[in-house]
Amino acid sequence: MFEIQTDTHEAVYRVDRADLGVTFLVALHSTRLGPAFGGARMWRYGSEDEALRDALRLSEGMTYKNALAELGVGGGKSVIWVREPGKIDRRAVFTAFGQILEELGGRYITAEDVGTSVGDMQIVREQTLNVAGLPPEGDRAGGDPSPWTALGVFHAMEAALATKGRPLAGATVAVQGCGAVGGGLCALLAKAGAGLVISDVSEDRVAQIAATHGARVARPAAIFEEPVDVLAPCALGAVLNADSIARIQASYVVGAANNQLATPDDGERLAARGVLYVPDYVANAGGIISVLEEYRGQSNELVEEKVRVIGPRVRKILQVAEQQGRAPYQVAQSLVDKILAAHARTTIEA
Ligand code: NAI
Repeated sequence: MFEIQTDTHEAVYRVDRADLGVTFLVALHSTRLGPAFGGARMWRYGSEDEALRDALRLSEGMTYKNALAELGVGGGKSVIWVREPGKIDRRAVFTAFGQILEELGGRYITAEDVGTSVGDMQIVREQTLNVAGLPPEGDRAGGDPSPWTALGVFHAMEAALATKGRPLAGATVAVQGCGAVGGGLCALLAKAGAGLVISDVSEDRVAQIAATHGARVARPAAIFEEPVDVLAPCALGAVLNADSIARIQASYVVGAANNQLATPDDGERLAARGVLYVPDYVANAGGIISVLEEYRGQSNELVEEKVRVIGPRVRKILQVAEQQGRAPYQVAQSLVDKILAAHARTTIEA
């Protein structure tokens, strides 16, 4: 295992497995609050730089997400860079990944993410205990975390609208990406009486969700221009940039995608346009809450209780933002900094 030095992360490990057609990158951003916790993404990146950038920014986001959700764990993420798709033997890849985790001795705990599944995590579990996102057993939480992420985004959206005294019933929401989270979110929104406009690059997927929930379909390139109340990015990161922000018609942006702001300046751009942006890592913590409580052997009832708290947390951040005349993403960042600093002090005093 080779260690990559950075100024920003506690440790970043690289394991090249040309024989398996992949390179593993495991980024531990911070273990100040506990072991680094965050999923494993498997993707065909164009270059190692691109894969590393993703591992670094996603793991940093996990530190913020886990700190603000008061989970008592740090932030990490791993990326499995698929270099030779034709060569991939998932059993061999996830066995090797499990061995890397075991070697890290509990400093990093993984779960599924984009491109990885419950089945993959079961293979990892054969090598190490440092994995979650496994099938539920009895009353214990477990399985695909996406429905919990969708529920958390739903609560976040409800809370954001409530700050202006508006209910979700009768509001219109544009959902970009109707996958595991976006599809689940559409179901919750339709049930709550919201109107839906949806887009997905998969025509089958979008047609299926539209037929089930009576949603209107927009072209993927035009979803940000829809005249709706709320925009919910549930596909890719970095979608909020100078170009897209100029086209947004919605008053609120609340979605599941990680790292939605292309740069911190884009948080300012949204605020300048009067768009209320709920930071992604506040809204989309439902999934990590589910896998962590599963790891701790807790029940679905506890997961639901903790996911529900995302609503009041969003309300608090938006209230403070309004009182202080700051953008919500700045308020959330200050809260994270405070949590991390307080823990550093406790550790030193202890
Ligand atoms: P997914 O892969 O099931 O769904 C993503 C959907 O977006 C797919 O249907 C895909 O066809 C569509 N898509 C891709 N590019 C698009 C584009 N340009 N326009 C419209 N649609 C497009 O992924 P999942 O699990 O639903 O996650 C969605 C996002 O939420 C990701 O960014 C992920 O990192 C994030 N997230 C997911 C969590 C989870 O529990 N699954 C937890 C926290 C964040």
